[in-house]
Amino acid sequence: MRSRIELESEGAARLVSHEELLDICFMLVVAGLDTTRAQLGWMLYHFATHPEDRRRVIEDPDLVVSAVEEVLRYYSIIYGDGRKVVRDMEYQGCPIKKGDMIYGMTSAANRDRKFEDADSFIIDRAPIPNLAFAAGPHRCLGAHLARSELQIALQEWLRVIPYYHVDSDEPLIERGAQLSLVSLPLAWSTAEEANGLLCGSQSPATYALDTAVVMALPPLTG
Ligand code: HEM
Repeated sequence: MRSRIELESEGAARLVSHEELLDICFMLVVAGLDTTRAQLGWMLYHFATHPEDRRRVIEDPDLVVSAVEEVLRYYSIIYGDGRKVVRDMEYQGCPIKKGDMIYGMTSAANRDRKFEDADSFIIDRAPIPNLAFAAGPHRCLGAHLARSELQIALQEWLRVIPYYHVDSDEPLIERGAQLSLVSLPLAWSTAEEANGLLCGSQSPATYALDTAVVMALPPLTG
């Protein structure tokens, strides 16, 4: 792997050092784990609390692509991104100097007026690029992977557990630099199927073997 990675930002290409390589690997792991976990939490939360959206995805699995895109836009887990200013300039009347740090609120941009009815979750919203993965040269390197993970997770979850709900009366708590839920207790049981809520091709008998299950994402420390 090392022989294939070269740094070109310093004028001449050179191999990355062992330490730099470890940094890159560390960055990939850190950037890829907590983010996806946080986004999965919000996605499962949304479909637990919006049965109509859940039904639509179950009935039309093609909706999973726009559904995930809307989850990324509506439940933006990254508030924004910092950038170092490289030249003196003025932005909308505000002077900015070379070397200043600025912070772009990408999460706010995801509720911009360019999105019709921006504060509503619209599961089949026509695709308009959003800033969940930011933009520019440092745009999320794992965006395509993250999208795939979320799409597969939603499809598979709803295939196996089409009916579930949040199993807590306590308010859900967000934490951290990434807006993740500290805990999301979910429960599902065969009772809902017995009430005739099952749809799709799965047989109620499949679920009749299950008892109510509660899943809680482990609380994070720090
Ligand atoms: C839902 C999941 C994810 C979200 C919302 C997300 C979001 C972001 C955002 C907003 C940035 C900052 C971009 C910028 O400063 O312009 C970023 C950077 C980055 N992400 Fe993700 N990310 C996710 C998943 C992943 C995954 C799965 C990986 C890799 C396995 C990954 C790897 C990276 C890397 C390496 C960077 C730094 C890019 C750079 O500085 O050039 N991310 N991500």
